[in-house]
Amino acid sequence: MDKSSCIRRTVCCLFVTALIAINHAIVVDIKSKGATGDGKTDDGPALLNAWKEACEGASPSSVLIPPGTYMALSVVLSGPCKGPIKLQATGATIKAPPELAKFKTDSWIRIQNVSKFTMTGGTFDGQGQQTWSSTKCHNSQMTCEIPVNLRLSHVKDSLFKDVTSSNSKNFHIALWRCDNSIFDNLTINAPGNSVNTDGIHIARLNGRAQHNKLKYKDSIGSLGKYPNEEPIQGIWIKNCTITGTTNGVRIKSWPGSYPGMASDIHFEDIIMKKVGNPIMIDQEYCPHDVCKKGTSSKVKLSSVTFRKIRGTSTTKVALNLACSEEAPCDNVEVSDIRLTFHGPGGGSTNSKCLNAKPKVTGENVPQRFV
Ligand SMILES: *[C@@H]1O[C@H](CO)[C@@H](O)[C@H](O)[C@H]1NC(C)=O
Ligand SMILES: *[C@@H]1O[C@H](CO)[C@@H](O)[C@H](O)[C@H]1NC(C)=O
Ligand SMILES: *[C@@H]1O[C@H](CO)[C@@H](O)[C@H](O)[C@H]1NC(C)=O
Repeated sequence: MDKSSCIRRTVCCLFVTALIAINHAIVVDIKSKGATGDGKTDDGPALLNAWKEACEGASPSSVLIPPGTYMALSVVLSGPCKGPIKLQATGATIKAPPELAKFKTDSWIRIQNVSKFTMTGGTFDGQGQQTWSSTKCHNSQMTCEIPVNLRLSHVKDSLFKDVTSSNSKNFHIALWRCDNSIFDNLTINAPGNSVNTDGIHIARLNGRAQHNKLKYKDSIGSLGKYPNEEPIQGIWIKNCTITGTTNGVRIKSWPGSYPGMASDIHFEDIIMKKVGNPIMIDQEYCPHDVCKKGTSSKVKLSSVTFRKIRGTSTTKVALNLACSEEAPCDNVEVSDIRLTFHGPGGGSTNSKCLNAKPKVTGENVPQRFV
């Protein structure tokens, strides 16, 4: 073998080794997948292609949305991925098209079926102004699905940090079966004229049982009937700021729902600015008369804490714990809540509490829990 071919082979060898090393932590920039970042072209397909490459590539992998302004139609980012995956969007603003007609699903950005996922930074602007002023959907919500800004479903062992959601057409962040995940330093902005916006909405607490809907149609039993049912466990929401939403943080399950369990849900260091119903456990809610009246939710909530939640409420009832009659909440803790009323007529806030005996510590406004 002559000298130059040996050098060539060595260089080639080094190059391959370097590629393998890089492959251990690949970063896929959405611009390399054709994102324009002009704020007008649909960059959703580029985001999806970058996600697919990162998700299927060697792990750990990242999707990078570089600083800039992007437009995207609905995107579904699905796992399972080969390993830990990140979505980095610090400095980027992603806008949804304002027209509701451009959406055929109930979510704008949907992330599902992933574990060890980290999402950092980024502003997700739902541009909901047209939707709030149109009355088309107001009376027919069952058939008119309005997209939620960020819907996270079947997400485990994950971290969401420094993410901003603005102007959602509907709820801002909806968690459906998210286990052992942290939501840290989120900012949620809804202008005063927005409608039906929840800041952080935790629902589908009994997802697994619902998959069995047909099977168990005729034998809806009490809690604990299905020993294999996976409980929801571990959601930490901390250091977030929620502004102007119809509801603040809300844990919801439907009356008459299938049995389920959810525990270890913690809210800490949350600032509420002019938020309606800032703190809500909502197991008695039945908006469109589709639930069986008089049947209560079979989802058991336990170890739920609300600590250091401060700011202003636009409704008098600042703290509303409406737990299920059939499966009362256990181990609810309320500590250092300071929510004052901001609205016509002034006055003070109060609270409601049903089927729960919260442990109350610290100095609280409203003071009394009934
Ligand atoms: C989630 O991933 C599992 C495999 O781990 C797969 O069987 C299932 O269909 C996926 N579910 C969704 C909703 O994508
Ligand atoms: C919180 O997130 C914002 C972006 O929304 C960021 O500018 C800020 O540095 C973050 N704060 C901390 C303490 O990480
Ligand atoms: C929230 O942020 C403050 C300041 O950055 C920090 O001191 C506090 O520990 C944080 N709270 C939580 C629950 O992480």
